[in-house]
Amino acid sequence: MTAGEQAQAGRHDRVTAVVATWAEAKGRPTFLATATPTLSWQVTSETRHWLQAACEIELARGGQTTTALLASRSSQAVTWPFAPLAAYETVSVRVRVRGDGEEWSPYGAAVELRTGPLGGADWKAPFVIPVTSAPRERAAARFWQVFEPTRAVRSAVLSVTAHGIYEAVLNGAVVGDEVFAPGWSAYRDRLCFQSYDVTAMLAGGRNVVGAVVADGWYRERFGFAGHDRIVYDGPAALSAQLRILYEDGSIGWVLSDGSWSASWEGPVVSSSIYQGEHYDARQEDDAFSDPDAVVAEHAVAVIVPTERGRLVPASAPPIRRIERRAPVAVTTSPSGRTIVDFGQDLVGVVELDVDAPEGCVVTLRHAEVLEDGELCTRPLRAAAATDSYTASGRGPARWSPRFTFHGFRYVEVSGWPRPLEPGDLRAVVVHSDLVRTGWLTTGDALLDKLHDNVVWSMRGNMVGLPTDCPQRDERLGWTGDIGVFAATATYLYDCSALLGSWLVDLRLEQDRRGGIVPFVVPDVLGGEPTAAAAWGDAATIVPDALYRSSGDTSVLAASYPSMRGWVEVLARLAGDDDLWTGGFQFGDWLDPAAPPDDPAKARTDPDIVATAYDFRSTSILAATALLLGRADDAARYSARAARIRDAFVATYVTPAGRIVSDASTAYALAICFGLLEDEAQRARAGDRLAELVRAYGYRIQTGFVGTPLVCDALCATGHVDAAYRLLTETGCPSWLYPVTMGATTTWERWDSLLPDGRVNPGEMTSFNHYALGAVADWMHRRIGGIAPAEPGYRVVDIAPVPGGGLQHVSARLDSAYGTIAVVWSVEDEQLNLRASIPANVEARVALPGSAVVVVGSGVHEWTVPARTGDGPAGRSRAGGGRNGNERRSFDLGSSLADVVEDPAARAALEKAAAAAGFPAGASLSDKGMWRSDNRLRDVVGRLPADDRERIVATLARIGQRDATT
Ligand code: BGC
Repeated sequence: MTAGEQAQAGRHDRVTAVVATWAEAKGRPTFLATATPTLSWQVTSETRHWLQAACEIELARGGQTTTALLASRSSQAVTWPFAPLAAYETVSVRVRVRGDGEEWSPYGAAVELRTGPLGGADWKAPFVIPVTSAPRERAAARFWQVFEPTRAVRSAVLSVTAHGIYEAVLNGAVVGDEVFAPGWSAYRDRLCFQSYDVTAMLAGGRNVVGAVVADGWYRERFGFAGHDRIVYDGPAALSAQLRILYEDGSIGWVLSDGSWSASWEGPVVSSSIYQGEHYDARQEDDAFSDPDAVVAEHAVAVIVPTERGRLVPASAPPIRRIERRAPVAVTTSPSGRTIVDFGQDLVGVVELDVDAPEGCVVTLRHAEVLEDGELCTRPLRAAAATDSYTASGRGPARWSPRFTFHGFRYVEVSGWPRPLEPGDLRAVVVHSDLVRTGWLTTGDALLDKLHDNVVWSMRGNMVGLPTDCPQRDERLGWTGDIGVFAATATYLYDCSALLGSWLVDLRLEQDRRGGIVPFVVPDVLGGEPTAAAAWGDAATIVPDALYRSSGDTSVLAASYPSMRGWVEVLARLAGDDDLWTGGFQFGDWLDPAAPPDDPAKARTDPDIVATAYDFRSTSILAATALLLGRADDAARYSARAARIRDAFVATYVTPAGRIVSDASTAYALAICFGLLEDEAQRARAGDRLAELVRAYGYRIQTGFVGTPLVCDALCATGHVDAAYRLLTETGCPSWLYPVTMGATTTWERWDSLLPDGRVNPGEMTSFNHYALGAVADWMHRRIGGIAPAEPGYRVVDIAPVPGGGLQHVSARLDSAYGTIAVVWSVEDEQLNLRASIPANVEARVALPGSAVVVVGSGVHEWTVPARTGDGPAGRSRAGGGRNGNERRSFDLGSSLADVVEDPAARAALEKAAAAAGFPAGASLSDKGMWRSDNRLRDVVGRLPADDRERIVATLARIGQRDATT
């Protein structure tokens, strides 16, 4: 090699590097759940526009190395190129890459991959239960065994599962840092187990291994309004197997069996997900820490038969204690109770530092809100959400429940032995330990808080699976909720492992119901199999969202039969005319116009939602079939999708572009799902949607179905300003209304808390539901300007749409390729944009008024003229019109559509109308009166003369003042 070549090679070594390598999805458990993990790696390169031309993967296994050379650009979720791993194996993998015409990069750091048992075939331990039956409801069982390794130990792996939730203990120390293991799955068909490396926890001589098994989900009473019942069979049971690999290569096993001790006594007196945990420290003993402990009230365990084929290694990220938060206030309520405010509606438990006399009982009651200064527990329905701790009197102790969780911001503490100090307790936030991937700041305090609330609601509703809410007697895997939220979820966090695991359960439960996707997964509601649009469609939408965010086709391949099964159900329901009509539907659930006790009574006809979703699922299936090489299915389902579209248009769309129901959700569905015939029809639908949005004073008019779509539908049809007005509206109902009411999470209802500060009277009123936060997906793509152009962000669209008076926005996505970052600002009528693109990614950049440019990796900057209206515009609450100089004066002939565009004029008119009691029982916005064909005289004409004159004078003054400024 010449000196020049050496220098060149040396330079190359510095410029391109594999900086991270991983197997399967981020956040997965340490022990792999598969013998053939996908591999991904991240590259940094100083070469601009770097694309991978080839990669070499090296596997070190049992003292041998093997390599796989792939001439491919693919660096994400690459199929395992070696022989499958065996159970209880440890291997390591490293990767090097090269770009076109380049030398190989150095190898990235090697990563260790481990397997434990890989399924029922590797599972040796029976399930055991105590020989005696439970002495009381919700009692926790304890199991333990003493053992002694016979030789020098090289490594030890403990694998555990339970009917219930378990906490494993070895020599007095809790094993691992997960809680609520084995998590909740479709237990009848799939029960997960966890594996832990316990080598360092083993002692020489006698050891004791044990576990507490509490009811958890397995024995929770599911169902509403007095129809609650335990759904799964049998009592709390444990199965544990410890595999000890000795230095001499021999293997020893410690398996749960009839030789284990079992007891119903112990400090966890009772526990339940909904009801809470009661702990009596007086009953603590040494059973789990001292091999020689003498424990009263214990008997033997007995083996119960079980179906081992159900056993699978856990693949979802562990549920962990993520952070601790100190109280922001400790107060006394009007009735004299001690209430602690943690300042954030969160999910988890309270941790106490308590020093109390023996027998002193400290009780904790949890709630999300206060009403009249007292804890408001009505929204929890049948969930007691109450924990208690009985002191042993043996000195200071730190305690928190281990077998329950609550959704709360406030805790009422009673029985504390002295005045409670803020330092005596803290909240422990508990949820699935997902890897955060997405961020957005807009520079607008209310919007940033909205986004923050969306993140908190996602955190609180990802406790092992995607749930509707985390606090009341529900907390179920409602399909519709994650269906609408999946795109937002997959931007904010890496959800592949969690949602991938949940989809396995969806498929199993769907199979049990003949292709019909149940409302909740795991399916604990039972009843006749019933299909519901937008809920059952989670079967197509969630895998599609995962594929879009990760680029991993394996989720589509695994879900394909389920997707097709669901679409076949839809085809049957739609029948020959390709219209799904009648029958049960949730529809545009929680449209704000629906009465509190009838959330399905939306403006948009449920038949429209049903056929629109049939089209959506059928289209997703057709595209998936094409991708997976199933040409026949692709042709068949795209033909059916075309027929559905024709039927939809023929039945629900008038030639002039009106859509039946004439409601925002109907237009949003038609526009976003691509149900309209041509551009002209789409444009007319967009115009009508914008009119409606304005007529209702930019107050939201959509429920679960329309909410994720409405801003996209407006932007896609040229109504960007209307989208921003809708987003930034603060009156009730709107996205920002809860923020102005002090919300710290996304609410279930637009008005979970009413404007008068009272809790919505509907029996279904949660303050922590992510569904209506699905607008964050639009915010990421259109405000932040980062959207996947090709799945996995291998090609990314950088296309921010400035507006809403926003002046400085920054968005970031830690894609699997690396960080994609966008910062834009509007200054002096110029839009400045900076975009950072990682190696192996291409970006299509579209700036207002400019042609699309394609760029590769590196940091890129642009400055272009800002679109009219990109500048510091007013928002409806702020007073001051757009750009401050566009106001016009108003007279009796002015249209209400013009008035609503001027926040000061709108406020003045609303105030006067409300004072005069017009329109009766509602506001101008509720009645949708801000229309171009409503004149000011139509409103003021109905007001008393005094009011009429005052309002006309006020509006005239507003116009004059503007004319002079
Ligand atoms: C849940 C929802 C769910 C809905 C469907 C509610 O009780 O909390 O979010 O999607 O029921 O009916």
